[in-house]
Amino acid sequence: MKVLEVNHLRKVYPKTQTEALRDVNCTVDAHEFVAIMGESGSGKSTLLNSIATLETPTSGQIFIDGKNIEAMNPTEIATFRRERLGFVFQDFNLIETFNVRDNILLPLVLSDVDPKSFDQKIDRIAQKLNIEPLLEKSVNEISGGQKQRVAIARALINDPTLLLADEPTGQLDSKSANAVMDVFSRLNEEGHTLLMVTHSIKAASSAKRVLFIKDGIIYHEIYRGELSSADFAEKIANSLTLLNRTGGGEEND
Ligand SMILES: Nc1ncnc2c1ncn2[C@@H]1O[C@H](COP(=O)(O)OP(=O)(O)O)[C@@H](O)[C@H]1O
Ligand SMILES: [Mg+2]
Repeated sequence: MKVLEVNHLRKVYPKTQTEALRDVNCTVDAHEFVAIMGESGSGKSTLLNSIATLETPTSGQIFIDGKNIEAMNPTEIATFRRERLGFVFQDFNLIETFNVRDNILLPLVLSDVDPKSFDQKIDRIAQKLNIEPLLEKSVNEISGGQKQRVAIARALINDPTLLLADEPTGQLDSKSANAVMDVFSRLNEEGHTLLMVTHSIKAASSAKRVLFIKDGIIYHEIYRGELSSADFAEKIANSLTLLNRTGGGEEND
C-alpha cells in the first residue's frame, strides 16, 4: 500500500523566483524506510516541507494515504498534519520552557485526546525511546542526542502514518547520531514508515532505499536489498561520486 505519492511536484519561491523543485516524482510504500540525499540547496527541505504540508507547491500533487492534500481546507490540513504526520527536525524544535513530558504531550493536548490516556501513552513511548528518566527534566538539562529522542517521541505520540525527518543527525556527535539511527531502524522494524532527508552517508545507510536529488529533480535511487549497512554505505558513496561527476540528470548504475 502506498503511503505517499508525489506527482510532478514543482516549487518556485515567489519572492526570489527560485525553482527549488523542478519535477519531483516518488512514492513511499507502507513500512518503507527511505532516505533522500543531495547536496545543500538541492531541494531536500523544500520537498520534505511540501510533504509535511508546511509549504504549498507551485504545481503537482501530493497524496498521503490516498488523500490529495491540496484538496483539503486549512482546518483539515492542520488536523491531518497533527494526527497523521510526525516530524523530526535537525534543531529538535522543542519548547525550552516546557519539561520533556509536556513537550511530548503537546500534540495530544492539541488533538483533544482524552487526558486520561496521557500517562499510558507517554509511558509507552518513553520506554520505547529509552527516555523514562528524562521525563521531568527541563529541555536545557538534556544532551542533543537526548533532545532528538524526545523529539522523536513527540513525533510518534499520535501514532502517525508517516514519520518525516529533516537532517535528524545534523547537529549530533557521531555516537548520538548512531543512537538516533538505531531508533529509526527499530521503529521501521516495528512497522513505522519513515522518510528522512540527510546528507550523511552513514545515516542514509540505515535506510532500505535511497533517493538522490539534484537541482530539484530525483534522478536516481538505490535499494539496500540484502547488503549490510557498511556495504550499503559504500554503494551510496559510489553513487554520489558517479552522479556528481556526471552532473546528474542521467541514469547511471
Ligand atoms: N523560503 C525560501 N525562500 C526562497 N528561497 C528558498 C527558501 N527556502 C529554500 N530556498 C531556496 O530553494 C533551494 C532549495 O533549498 P532547500 O530545499 O532548503 O535545499 P536543501 O534542504 O537541499 O539544502 C535553494 O536554492 C534555496 O536557497
Ligand atoms: Mg535542508
